[in-house]
Amino acid sequence: MCGIVAIASPRTNIVESLLDALTALEYRGYDSAGLALLSPRGLVRHRAVGKVKNLRDTLPALEAAPIGMAHTRWAVMGAATEANAHPQFDGETAVVHNGIIENVGELKSMLPDIIWESQTDTEVVVHLVSSFVRKERDLLAAIKSTVQLLKGTFALVILHKDFPDMLVATKRINPLSVGKSNTGDLFVTSDIAVIPVEQYIDLEDDDVCVMRKRVGEGDFFAEFYTFRHNKLEKIEKTWKDANQTATVTSIGDYKNFTIKEIHEQPNVIQKSINALNRGDYIPIAQEMMNKSAINIIACGSSFYAGLIGKYWLERFGRLLTNVEISSEFNYRYPVITKNSLTLFISQSGETLDTLKAMEVVRAEQGDFAVITNVLQSTMAKAATRHLLDLGAGPELSVVSTKAFTAQLAVLIGVVIQYLKFKDPRAADILQEDFERVPGLLSQVMGQNYHLPLIPNASSILYLGRGICYPIALEGALKLKETTYIHAEGYPGGEMKHGPIALIDARAVSVILAPHNELFNKIVSNAHEVIARGGHVVFFTDAAGNAEFTQRANSTAYVMPSSGPVSEAFVYSLGMQALAYDAAGGLGCDPDRPRNLAKSVTVE
Ligand code: G6P
Repeated sequence: MCGIVAIASPRTNIVESLLDALTALEYRGYDSAGLALLSPRGLVRHRAVGKVKNLRDTLPALEAAPIGMAHTRWAVMGAATEANAHPQFDGETAVVHNGIIENVGELKSMLPDIIWESQTDTEVVVHLVSSFVRKERDLLAAIKSTVQLLKGTFALVILHKDFPDMLVATKRINPLSVGKSNTGDLFVTSDIAVIPVEQYIDLEDDDVCVMRKRVGEGDFFAEFYTFRHNKLEKIEKTWKDANQTATVTSIGDYKNFTIKEIHEQPNVIQKSINALNRGDYIPIAQEMMNKSAINIIACGSSFYAGLIGKYWLERFGRLLTNVEISSEFNYRYPVITKNSLTLFISQSGETLDTLKAMEVVRAEQGDFAVITNVLQSTMAKAATRHLLDLGAGPELSVVSTKAFTAQLAVLIGVVIQYLKFKDPRAADILQEDFERVPGLLSQVMGQNYHLPLIPNASSILYLGRGICYPIALEGALKLKETTYIHAEGYPGGEMKHGPIALIDARAVSVILAPHNELFNKIVSNAHEVIARGGHVVFFTDAAGNAEFTQRANSTAYVMPSSGPVSEAFVYSLGMQALAYDAAGGLGCDPDRPRNLAKSVTVE
């Protein structure tokens, strides 16, 4: 949520590199963008509403500097206007900020003479730093005095006009990393995975990174301090090797990141199959053998992956599983039994609601494991028991596709490993079906899926039974995110208890109907829709298609035949493809849907 990047370089001009890096970070928020440069003209700032491209277009051609910072915003406090875009700047101090300053009212009352130019909480940080610099004449001391007053969460990068060769970064809760490239560029960023660096350091809470120009030389160096215990102490940090590949941030021959990432899924799933074969899931499965319940806590698509995990854990593992949305779990005084293991699932590993849920479980002394795609993330570092890697590679489309199916793959990998201890024969059958998934997904991708959009349709109902119910929920979410059309996932059996009232000639229902033990029951739902004049988009397989002979008012898509494990992947991909096609038809940008952000670091 909001992307930050700063660069200090031996080169004379980093503006293009800053804009390129900001574009790579755009998936974190894209309602406005800005940058500040310590240029030969002094500290200058430029901002624009909308995507980074708008900032690029408005930038004066001659703007050049060896040091600067940039921000792409997802509005929290204050609308998406130029005045609220970052950097916030008072003519002396410029600040980019991720997070929320909670005591902004109290802090503003300490600065009674300021005429506030924005509705952001960040502006108060700017004025505090400026006022402390005027008193203390020392930027680092001024930032320390400021940070001590802040309540809330933040990742901050700060420049001051009187310190022309210096950049300071610090954080609390929100992630911030420092990187260096082999060309001598130093970076600070909220999202190191998409920045082209050879080495990096993740900042801990209250760590401070100071970049300064080497005396007599053109290059910058990084020093580290901590504000912990209200002191300013120099600390040593160890650079780690980064394994970034340039292909990650490029769409190659694809039209956008969404379709690129959809196509990466067979390879991503194969990684979890390999992990299962290597025995990577043995430690968590052994621990599950000693537990009587599993709790899964997550948000968004990760929550739906968790629901699918519940169906598998209970059906195959006979292990009681509770799944819950993090933001609800956090404030309803949940019971965490001693004999349970909690799994936090998060693509980003930074979702604040899920981080808060970790605090709740920790306070109850519960054991927890983390399933994430970002091994440097806050959640990954907090895992008390097991850390399971989704291995999907950076997912740059805001709409989750490959990370979602990677979550399914890790969950079923864990379930199969658990069954290997309890019932090896059953585990073998499931594993055989799991190993078919990459091939089946490649077959699904060979087809086109089209959602008939009826003019004036008020909503699209997604219906499924059994494991296809949480897939219907995820399918409806995909459509909402990519097309802004209202869609709702429902258990097929529940339609008669309310949603059936919505069915008329304008209604479209997407029905997930693999030819499994629930086929006849979901077919009844299809008939109920058609009998009321509604249109059905029927996802089934060859056996289902042979039995579902109702052709009027229906469109059938024949998916490859799948088993009890592979069906979840096959039908999830079908839902992704349907939403992607609908977005294309409506001219919507699936990579950057309006109002959304990839990593949601506010409650
Ligand atoms: C945002 C994203 C969703 C994602 C959710 C949870 O809303 O747009 O795609 O599912 O956050 O994110 P997490 O990183 O915790 O999986």
